[in-house]
Amino acid sequence: MKKATLFITALLSMAVTAGAKNVAIETPGNTLVVDVTNGQRPMFVYYGAKLSASDMANLKPAAGFSRNEIYLPYGPAPAAEAAFACRHSDGNMTTELLATGYDVTSDGNSTVTTIHTKDPQYALTVDIHYKAYNDVDMIETWTDITNGEKGTVTLTDFYSATLPIRRGDVWMSSLYGSWANEGQVDEEPLTAGEKVIKNTDGTRNSHTSHAEVMFSLNGKAQENSGQVIGAALCYGGNYELKVVTDDSEYHRFIAGINADNSFYHLKKGETFTTPPLALTFSDEGLSGASRNFHKWGREYRLAHGNDLRRILLNSWEGVYFNINEENMNQMMGDIAAMGGELFVMDDGWFGGKYQRNTDNAALGDWVVDKRKLPNGIENLINDAKSHGIKFGIWVEPEATNTASELYEKHPEWVIKAPRREISCGRGGTQLVLDMSNPKVQDYAFSIIDNLLSKYPEIAYIKWDANMPIQSAGSQYLSMDDQSYLYIDYHRGLEKTLKRIRKKYPDVTIQLCASGGGRANWGLLPYFDEFWVSDNTDALQRIYMQWGTSYFFPAMAMACHISATPNHTVFRTTSLKFRIDVAMAGRLGMEIQPKNMTDEEKALCKKAIAEYKEIRPVVQLGNIYRLVSPFDHKGLASMMYVSDSKDKAVWYWWKTANFYNQHLPRVRMAGLDPTRMYKVRELDRIDLNPLDCEGKVYTGKFLMETGLDVPYTNEVEWGKKTDWSSRVLYLEAQ
Ligand code: DGJ
Repeated sequence: MKKATLFITALLSMAVTAGAKNVAIETPGNTLVVDVTNGQRPMFVYYGAKLSASDMANLKPAAGFSRNEIYLPYGPAPAAEAAFACRHSDGNMTTELLATGYDVTSDGNSTVTTIHTKDPQYALTVDIHYKAYNDVDMIETWTDITNGEKGTVTLTDFYSATLPIRRGDVWMSSLYGSWANEGQVDEEPLTAGEKVIKNTDGTRNSHTSHAEVMFSLNGKAQENSGQVIGAALCYGGNYELKVVTDDSEYHRFIAGINADNSFYHLKKGETFTTPPLALTFSDEGLSGASRNFHKWGREYRLAHGNDLRRILLNSWEGVYFNINEENMNQMMGDIAAMGGELFVMDDGWFGGKYQRNTDNAALGDWVVDKRKLPNGIENLINDAKSHGIKFGIWVEPEATNTASELYEKHPEWVIKAPRREISCGRGGTQLVLDMSNPKVQDYAFSIIDNLLSKYPEIAYIKWDANMPIQSAGSQYLSMDDQSYLYIDYHRGLEKTLKRIRKKYPDVTIQLCASGGGRANWGLLPYFDEFWVSDNTDALQRIYMQWGTSYFFPAMAMACHISATPNHTVFRTTSLKFRIDVAMAGRLGMEIQPKNMTDEEKALCKKAIAEYKEIRPVVQLGNIYRLVSPFDHKGLASMMYVSDSKDKAVWYWWKTANFYNQHLPRVRMAGLDPTRMYKVRELDRIDLNPLDCEGKVYTGKFLMETGLDVPYTNEVEWGKKTDWSSRVLYLEAQ
């Protein structure tokens, strides 16, 4: 993440009070045009590829489409789904927002255009911001809603933004799923009516659906061609994305906080800021839009987005809660011997009066369980040091169990509606702590602060969150403000995370939430990566990692090699297949190495060494998805290409195995057609090298024709499996 975005150095500011038509908001390759005329409703004009000045001068808001206000309020404006609605201090339910001017500020990385609007009858103002980046095609848009009225204004709808999309043959790609099946791709044409994607979990927001979508403007989505608009709501809480297709020429995409049961009393003088919606346009298909999200994410939103990630072993699937000094040391030794760089001790290390032997006790009692680890964390850190690796640790700061000393001491800290019983989750005893309460925020901060101040050698924290909000109410918020819970929970969480990052900017923190429950750009500024899913089955991971890669870069996606039969789906896959799938993200291991054979360990050691070679291309390169597993062609294929196109890594995974199968040859993408690339197979297990091994091909050939690879891995008879995959490293000569 670039520091300059946090600490604005040179501020160039321009205030424009006179009305102006066609205000252009521009990135290197995108233009968004808004009509801002003082005393009039600000109207959407254009969003897409960069416009020339002469073409822009010819544009005006589409005649007769008065619903295309950039932030349509409920009331005097045309009857349509509104982006904003409130009850004014005198009870009036309608709002009119007319432009009063705009200004432009710049910080070296981006330019923020703010369009000021005001209700002509009320002292309610809405500032609509557009932040356009100078080096990546991304525009973030959000609003500041300020109550200048004499009394309280109640906000009932407060989305972040509206984007009209011209009708035609527009398709929407979105992600859906569930625990252990996150990131599934759904594609559908936009038809008449309303399509709503929303989340109501309260704490996590990406298991069942995602706050990001892509719109393909020229028919069914293509990976590497066609015009695509991508949108990501940068928010960790309940969201709502909707596309309204009524009788006008435009679909209207509206995105923001899900206001269900969350009306907000805006006190006199108070400002409510909505979370940013990040927008990108690409004419290079879905993969092009993904590359924009990845670049923007790495530069501006992900913690340490320019630093390579360590290869780690996480203890969870290896030993679960059965942590002790001996097995921790043994696992550290094993991962170090395989070339790994970090060991993470997962759940089960803590507890005093209550022991954490399963998931029903001790959350909140963050003291080392001396029965399991008599020599404490310092001893583990020393062990890690002696193996030459770093040490990391698991916590779940937002939760407790009824069986915990914390709950006994602070029953008033848990989420619970007034006059209702508590409602428990995981293990039948888990409860969510009320992050809207400043005392709980201080407590959550203190968990991390205690660990990191006492053990500064801790290099990695895995921050988990395993429960939704149940019995939705707060013991901290007043009866009048109960509807703040969902929003104030996330404000409290963010405040805590900001405090942690201020004091501990360097520590690596993983965002985990029962697997991939928190893959969102709202929380990632405080985290280095997220756990894609609790399901580590390589076959299902191909699908999950595919969908997740639409919006998130490989360096942020934790992908671990685990045991077979897989602990979630009980599928048995080959180790080679598991390695090749995990190598497409931030590689790690989630296994008890003690149970592996020497041959398996040797294969992993080789894979780790080879991953180190390709790590910069995978983690900092550009994604080109080639054949989607969701197209059910029997295979999936994708690649990463370095910025200078001198190196690339190509993945080929077979998703189904039949005799006499006919698979398509995969054409590569993103290479320099004029350069020569030498091919080397990684993670090789075949007895004989591939035909292409060591040969040199033009980028043109690889992209127009592609390489044929055998459909099976040719190994000794007794070692054959029904899985096959290939990873090729291409280096320009
Ligand atoms: C859920 C996470 O997704 C797992 O990786 C593991 O950390 C468990 N929680 C521990 O309880």
